[in-house]
Order: sequence, then structure tokens, then C-alpha cells
Amino acid sequence: MDKDKMSSTMIMLIIILMLHVVSCTDHLIIDTYCPDNFPFYTSNTSFHKNLKLLMETLSSNIAASNTSYFNNTSIGQGLDKVYGQALCRGDITNSTVCKECIEKASKDLMNRCKSEDAMVWYELCQVRYSFQMFFSDAVYTGKYPKQNDLEKRVSDPTSFQQVLTYLMNNLSNEAAFNPAKNMFATAEIEFSAKKERIYGLVECTKDVSETDCGSCLSSAVTELNACCSYREGGIIVSRNCNVRFDLFQFFNASSAASLLIFPTSKGGKWKPWMYVLTICGSISILAVLIGLCTACRRQKNDRDKDEERSERMLFQELSSPKNVAITQEGELISSDQLLFMTLATIKAGTDDFSNTNKLGQGGFGAVYKGVLPDGNEIAVKRLSKKSWQGIEEFKNEIILIAKLQHKNLVKLLGCVLEGEEKILVYEFMSNRSLDQFIFDPNKRPKLDWKTCYGIIGGIARGLLYLHEESRLKIIHRDLKPNNVLLDHELVAKISDFGMARMFSENQNTANTKRVVGTHGYMAPEYAMEGLFSVKSDVFSFGVIMLEIISGKRNGGFYLTELAPTLLAYAWKLWNEGKGLEFADPILLESCLDYESEVLRCIHIGLLCVQEDPQHRPTMSNVVVLLGSESMVLPQPRQPAFSSGKMIRVDPSASTNCSLNDSIWSNISPR
Ligand SMILES: *[C@@H]1O[C@H](CO)[C@@H](O)[C@H](O)[C@H]1NC(C)=O
Ligand SMILES: *[C@@H]1O[C@H](CO)[C@@H](O)[C@H](O)[C@H]1NC(C)=O
Ligand SMILES: *[C@@H]1O[C@H](CO)[C@@H](O)[C@H](O)[C@H]1NC(C)=O
Ligand SMILES: *[C@@H]1O[C@H](CO)[C@@H](O)[C@H](O)[C@H]1NC(C)=O
Ligand SMILES: *[C@@H]1O[C@H](CO)[C@@H](O)[C@H](O)[C@H]1NC(C)=O
Ligand SMILES: *[C@@H]1O[C@H](CO)[C@@H](O)[C@H](O)[C@H]1NC(C)=O
Ligand SMILES: *[C@@H]1O[C@H](CO)[C@@H](O)[C@H](O)[C@H]1NC(C)=O
Repeated sequence: MDKDKMSSTMIMLIIILMLHVVSCTDHLIIDTYCPDNFPFYTSNTSFHKNLKLLMETLSSNIAASNTSYFNNTSIGQGLDKVYGQALCRGDITNSTVCKECIEKASKDLMNRCKSEDAMVWYELCQVRYSFQMFFSDAVYTGKYPKQNDLEKRVSDPTSFQQVLTYLMNNLSNEAAFNPAKNMFATAEIEFSAKKERIYGLVECTKDVSETDCGSCLSSAVTELNACCSYREGGIIVSRNCNVRFDLFQFFNASSAASLLIFPTSKGGKWKPWMYVLTICGSISILAVLIGLCTACRRQKNDRDKDEERSERMLFQELSSPKNVAITQEGELISSDQLLFMTLATIKAGTDDFSNTNKLGQGGFGAVYKGVLPDGNEIAVKRLSKKSWQGIEEFKNEIILIAKLQHKNLVKLLGCVLEGEEKILVYEFMSNRSLDQFIFDPNKRPKLDWKTCYGIIGGIARGLLYLHEESRLKIIHRDLKPNNVLLDHELVAKISDFGMARMFSENQNTANTKRVVGTHGYMAPEYAMEGLFSVKSDVFSFGVIMLEIISGKRNGGFYLTELAPTLLAYAWKLWNEGKGLEFADPILLESCLDYESEVLRCIHIGLLCVQEDPQHRPTMSNVVVLLGSESMVLPQPRQPAFSSGKMIRVDPSASTNCSLNDSIWSNISPR
């Protein structure tokens, strides 16, 4: 009797446990996106409050909606505005289930991530928020959740892969181009003699266009093939779409169970309209559609060969639009603002990277001169395979610089990502980089003071744009004469954003464990403690300014024992009232009328390289000071050149440094 009771309790317990497991897997977290090169918000700011409110609004909006559980909303004004989007998997028909998933996911996201742009994927839903408007923007950054590694291998990968590809392609086309599916499709297919089945699911967020959905899915399916086509399950998630397959029915298909049949090699299952649908589906322009359909009809006879071809074509059509690329690491990136070029174009334009076209060689790889088919000259930065600049920096640079437009920033025209090749294509700068001008005894005499002054002003304005004139503060972190390019009119343009980092409006300092940059130009607090801010860029700017004026390098400068660095030398002469001795005599010849301007520039340079970042001016101060002769400059303090001495920088202090900053407070550009 007791035994019976026992066993029934046991059974009950087991059932409860199983239910628990089931409900846990319901809320399975798949992946999160929490980038650290975006700004982080601080607690209790209005951004944070808006974000919390947004999360609540999203889940209640979702519950209110009726058919498909998708919503986008924004809350707040101006800089504190937050945009959010939530989506429940297409087979969820119970609003309570959807709402609970969104609530859990958003809570989780808030706990895990303080970035101003973040996303989380759960098994049954996904939530994203951002400080920037992203609705209807299709940006593919596919993610490969670690759980894929846990999947067992299948016994016959070759045939499995064929069947899987067929299934996922069919689903992608259905979801993207069949309006009745509303961007969501599931199906199953048999893959073995034992009648085992693969279950597939694909889905897009409802805010993107059919074409964007199609190319997102095709990118994701390409990745799924690469990672998982020999496994018993796989999943790839991206901002606008996700794809998944498994050997069990993981979705609710009671509504419209669709069993696909893998076409036999005879190709009898392929009807002409399928070609039309598969090929034309991915092309949005009607003219192209008509043209292709005619072509399809003509090829009807050669059906056996075409069967293979059309599938391949569909794949290529979808997975290589001009703004999507796959990296060697299998990662996909895409951007609306950037043009992906083909390796063939660049090879043709640079004589296959011939030595005669080589402009220079850096730590990252070589730079070549080239021409585009339209005749425009370009500079091609080919990252070496063992380059320290990894895929992260590469992505960082292209996404960042593609968004930046300023007269004093070098323009990125496009990039190449093919196989192991990572290539950046810039507008060509006929006068190369600043270091080749100021440190070259032959070219140096060509620089008169007016030109130098123009270059200094150009760098200052480019940096001001990065620091203050966009929504984000961008810290360059590796400013040096090699990274300042000169165009045919000797206008300075800042380049090389591989190390750049974005800050939010109210963020002032960040810390990094990985100090990257160039000695001689790095501010002491950055070089020694990894602390960087706009003021560390100001320091680098100051060094460049003093180098331009003196014609000497800060590194490699051993003039006297008393002045081991250029900064120490400048400081010494300045204090002895012999500032003009610091300037390059060649430069002085051209500027007899401008001696006061030269002295003023040395003065500003010394202000920029002061040891305490809080004493350094901001770039807007610098731009104003450069443009005005009458404004009185504060006395500079000792620059940072005695490497033994370190000052502590309190990250929180930089916001309330009114006392120190007061000297700069009434100086800002109009
Ligand atoms: C934020 O505000 C809450 C309630 O007003 C308070 O308990 C909490 O300590 C604050 N947190 C910070 C970091 O200021
Ligand atoms: C989101 O929800 C709100 C409130 O229910 C609704 O007004 C809005 O149209 C929804 N947006 C979308 C894209 O469904
Ligand atoms: C939900 O949809 C049904 C039928 O599609 C409709 O009758 C009903 O009014 C809708 N409810 C809401 C709250 O939109
Ligand atoms: C949600 O997205 C749709 C489609 O992009 C857009 O039309 C709509 O205005 C968005 N809703 C809000 C509240 O921004
Ligand atoms: C929706 O799900 C909840 C909890 O999972 C359940 O209590 C409720 O009965 C379901 N509603 C419907 C209409 O199935
Ligand atoms: C997908 O397969 C189903 C069933 O075989 C078929 O009806 C449908 O047309 C296919 N869709 C595409 C886009 O190939
Ligand atoms: C599956 O879908 C059907 C029809 O849409 C619905 O009645 C049923 O409640 C769903 N089951 C689950 C577990 O969501």
C-alpha cells in the first residue's frame, strides 16, 4: 500500500520534473548580442528609465496584438530615445506564452547587458533595443550559438546535406516571398530509408522587405550549411532573421503540416513554374523578372542540368547582394552604407598587387595604388593574413567609417571579403601621409607655414567631428602622422579607424585591458593604465602639432641629455623663453610674418600634451584657439614625459571637473 503511494508520488514527481524541464526549454536562451564598442548607459539616467518603460510597453503591445506577435515601439525624446522590437516565433498562438517569453527575455537582457544597443534570442522569442532607429534596417550579423557544438553527427552527411539544403531553401523562399506565410515557414522532409525526418523553421522580423528577408535567410542558411549540415540539429540567429533544423518536431505544426518530398535525380518533380518562382523570387525589379522568366523558358529543355544550376543560382543571387559578405571565419556582415567589391576588380586595378603599385607596408599589411573600372584612383589596404587586425577590428572599421562623412576624414569607398582576403578601398591621396612630408628632408621644404597651419587646422576639425559633432563620441586611439593623409591640395584627412571606439554622449572615460596604439603618441594615462577618453586623442594631436612645427619625431628624439623627448625639449625651450628655437628653421624662413602664430601653435601644442587629461583642452577649444589670435592662452603645465610619474585618473571625476575645466568653459566653437 505504502509502496503504491510511494510509486504514485514518484510518478507525480517525475511528471512535475518533466513539466519543469519542458517549461525551462520553452524559455531557452539561445544567444545575446552585447557589443562593447557601442556606448554603455548608466543606471538611473533617463535613457535607462525609457528603456525599462520600453520593455514593459513591448510586452503589453505584443499581448494586445492579434495575429502575429511582433511589435516595434520607441520611447523618449532626443538623445534619450530608445527603440525596441519584439517578435515571438510564428507558431506561437497563445498570447500569454508570447508575453511571458518577452518579459523574461527583456529582464534577462537588462541584467546581462548595459550597452545602448543589444539583443537577445530565446527559443520562442527575440527582443532588441537600441539608441538608434533600426526598424526596417536589414543588417546581417549572423550568430552561431554554442549549443550547435553539442549536436551529434549524422551518419550519412552527403545525402543529409542535400536534403537539408533543399528543405531550407524551400522554406526561405516560402517565408520571404509568399505573402501568405507572413515571413515564417516550417516544414519537414524525409532524409533516410528509415523515413527519419528533418524539421526546419525559418523566420524574419516583420519590418523588413521581402528581398531583405530573402537575403538574410539565404545568408543564414549558408552559415547553417557551413556549421551544421553534418549535425543532427543547428540554429543560426541574426537581427532580422533566424533559421533552425532538428530531427524532432520542435515547433507546433498542427495548423499546416507540410511534408516536402526531396526531388529525385531524374528531375521529374521540377516544373517550369518552380524555376520562375525560385529564380525570379529573389529579384525585386520587374524588368529583370520578365527578362529572366523568358530566359528560364528557353532553358526548359535542358532540364536535368538546369535543376542543379537553378538551385545554385538562387543561392548566389540571394547570398551575394552588393552589401553582404561572408568572412573566412564564416561570419556574415552587411551594411547599407558600404559597397562590397570583388577581389577580381581589385586585382585588375592593382596589376594583381604588383610591387610597382605598392605605396607602403604597415604592421597590418600593404597598401597599393589602384584604379577602379570607372577610372577613379584608389588606395587599397590589403590586410595580411597574420595581421593583428582581426575580423573584429575590420568590422569595426568598415561599419564605423562607412557612417562618417567629413572633409577631414578619409573616405572609404568599399571593401573586399573573399576567402582569406580582407581589403579596404579608400579614395586615393596623391600626397600620401603626413609623416612622409614632415620627416623627409627632401619634401619638408615644400611645406610652408601656411600649409602647415592648414594641416593642423584640418586635423583639428576632423578630430572635432569625431569627438563632438556626431551623436557618438568617437575616440580614434591611434592618431599619428602615418594616419593623417594629404590629398592633392594638401588637405589633411584622418584615416585608420581600426582601433576607434564609440562613446555615448555622457560617457567620458573607458578602460581597456588591451592597450593598442603607437608609443610616442599615446597619452600616459592610456599607455600605462589603459584609460582612454577624448583627451587621450587630444594628447596625440598635441604631439603631432609639435612634430609638424619642429620637423622632428617625438620617438627617436635624443637631442640632449636634458631633453630626452621632443616634448621635454619643447617644454625646456618654452620655459627659457626660446620657443622659436623649437621651430624648424626651414619653416621659419617661410613665416617671418607669422612668428607669433608659430609661438601660439607651440603654446597650444604644449597645452594638449599636459600630463593631467583634465588640464588638456577639448578639440573644440583647440579649434577656437587656432582660429583666434586675441584669445589669451592659459600657461601650460609640465607635459607628460617623465615616464616614472603617474597620475591617477578617476573615471567618475571627469564629469564634475568644473574647477579644472573652468579655464576652457568659455571657449567653444560657434
Ligand atoms: C537608482 O535609483 C534607485 C531608486 O530611486 C536607487 O535605489 C538606486 O540606488 C539608484 N542607483 C544608482 C546607481 O544611483
Ligand atoms: C505595436 O503595438 C501598438 C499598440 O498595440 C500598436 O499601436 C502598433 O501598431 C504596433 N506596431 C506594430 C508594428 O505592430
Ligand atoms: C482579432 O482577430 C479577430 C479575427 O481575425 C477579430 O475578429 C478581432 O476583433 C481581433 N481582436 C483584436 C483585439 O484585434
Ligand atoms: C514599426 O515598424 C513599421 C515598419 O517598419 C513602421 O512602419 C512603424 O512606423 C513602426 N512603428 C513605430 C511605433 O515606430
Ligand atoms: C495559454 O497559455 C497559458 C499558460 O501557458 C494557459 O494557462 C492558457 O490556458 C493558454 N490559453 C489558451 C487559449 O490556450
Ligand atoms: C516548397 O515545397 C512545397 C511542397 O513541395 C511546394 O508546394 C512549394 O512550391 C515549394 N516552394 C518553393 C518556393 O520552392
Ligand atoms: C498549436 O497550434 C494550434 C492551432 O493554431 C493551437 O490550437 C494549439 O494550441 C497550439 N499548441 C501549442 C502547444 O501552442
